[in-house]
Amino acid sequence: MNKGILITFEGIDGSGKTTQINELIHRLDQRNIDYQLFREPGGTRIGEKIRDILLDKDHSNMLPITELLLYSASRYQLTMRSIIPALNAGKVVICDRFYDSTTAYQGYGRGIDLEFIKRLNAVATKSLIPDKTFILDISLEERLQRLGKINLDRLEQEAITFHKKVREGFIAIAREEPERMILIDGNRPAEEISKEIWNHVKSIRSEKIE
Ligand code: TMP
Repeated sequence: MNKGILITFEGIDGSGKTTQINELIHRLDQRNIDYQLFREPGGTRIGEKIRDILLDKDHSNMLPITELLLYSASRYQLTMRSIIPALNAGKVVICDRFYDSTTAYQGYGRGIDLEFIKRLNAVATKSLIPDKTFILDISLEERLQRLGKINLDRLEQEAITFHKKVREGFIAIAREEPERMILIDGNRPAEEISKEIWNHVKSIRSEKIE
């Protein structure tokens, strides 16, 4: 088992992941805890190029399997080159999205076979499973209010019915693995949420140390 801790954040766009990740990092900084932050898709030079391809609004004719394979390619590069080495070095690794996004977006959202996605996710992550995953859940109305309509990327531009399926996907995933996944009501004040997340993070740390 690796020495570090892997924490991932998930949720539909506008769910408040970035705010919560920043809050967590702030707490880690205050305590001089060594961490590394990555984002998906991206996080490596190759991955950032793949990200550009994936989010480009001109790529509206991208097929679902092409999309799935590109997300997975970016993930494999990040897992092998950055996440596993950081975990082996004993760091807290925070990932802004990981394979649960693929299950929710490409599986529940696009309708690609969930068993196939499970196998591909295992390949792309070398079967690495996060210690804790926080899923920030907001209503679709709240999402629209937070995102606005300007400069949306290819995925954000998708119809509301797509985002509804993705949101339901995240909720379904959370029910399947209640030990790992913490479903958080993202409509509450950011400070309240960040305290809840911190309490969970503290408990993983003590479990791992024991
Ligand atoms: P971000 O806006 O959170 O950086 O994520 C980029 C977009 O990519 C977001 O709309 C969610 C989407 N996405 C997938 O569809 N599948 C995936 O596996 C990942 C990691 C992200």
